[in-house]
Amino acid sequence: MEPIGIIESCFKDKFGTPRQPGLVKKSWARLRLRGDLQPEESLQGLEGFSHVWLIWLFHQNKVARFHSKVHPPRLGGQSMGLFATRTPHRPNPIGLSLVELVAVEKDGIVVAGADLVDGTPILDIKPYLPEVEAIPTARSGWPQDAKSIEIRVEFSAKAEALLQNWQNQHPDKALREIIVDTLKLDPRPVVYRGFEEETSPYRSEHAVRLFNGDVHFKFVSAHLVTVFDILFIHN
Ligand SMILES: C[S@@+](CC[C@H](N)C(=O)[O-])C[C@H]1O[C@@H](n2cnc3c(N)ncnc32)[C@H](O)[C@@H]1O
Repeated sequence: MEPIGIIESCFKDKFGTPRQPGLVKKSWARLRLRGDLQPEESLQGLEGFSHVWLIWLFHQNKVARFHSKVHPPRLGGQSMGLFATRTPHRPNPIGLSLVELVAVEKDGIVVAGADLVDGTPILDIKPYLPEVEAIPTARSGWPQDAKSIEIRVEFSAKAEALLQNWQNQHPDKALREIIVDTLKLDPRPVVYRGFEEETSPYRSEHAVRLFNGDVHFKFVSAHLVTVFDILFIHN
């Protein structure tokens, strides 16, 4: 199989990329198709659909290994069979994401809500068929207590000013919403959780790279995160 194209995504690193599609609703990604696939013809009719499935490769997996049982971070130490999870480490490292189709362009598509890192090879696009694929009575095998806690995001005066300026340069991107929704998911590695008090020696600061900006943040309590700086990368 050959990828049909490589995705450009607002998530520049795996760190901060949401764990599933739709969690950061306004996240931005564009796929330009290979020219030999004749995008102007092969995409014809897709514009009628609101959502599409993307089938893709976990190309940033560092090891090709997989384990039959995995510990999903949200299950707090509990393990599950790999096929009961969406772990990237699978016998065939193929990802599947249901995303909103924002635009069909001459040479590709723009989508919102993707959970893919920039540079991900895409194997296929398929239209989402609500009449057969939406199952209101479906149940999830994940424990109910896996629900995450509500987190609030605030910006320091400095970060607010930087965001305003950044937004003026990119009026078509929902920067604030992307930042807020990304941080609400608490992208910190699990080991950093629980050390938010000011006096804790393990209190940590992190940054997520979104578009051309490194968004620096720290958790000031388990429920409140502060964005305190945004540093821009100039290519
Ligand atoms: C848990 S997987 C779920 C992906 C997809 N929705 C699925 O179910 O197959 C999502 C995570 O994969 C990671 N990821 C995204 N793009 C990737 C890539 N190209 N290579 C490796 N890991 C990637 C990110 O850390 C993201 O949080």
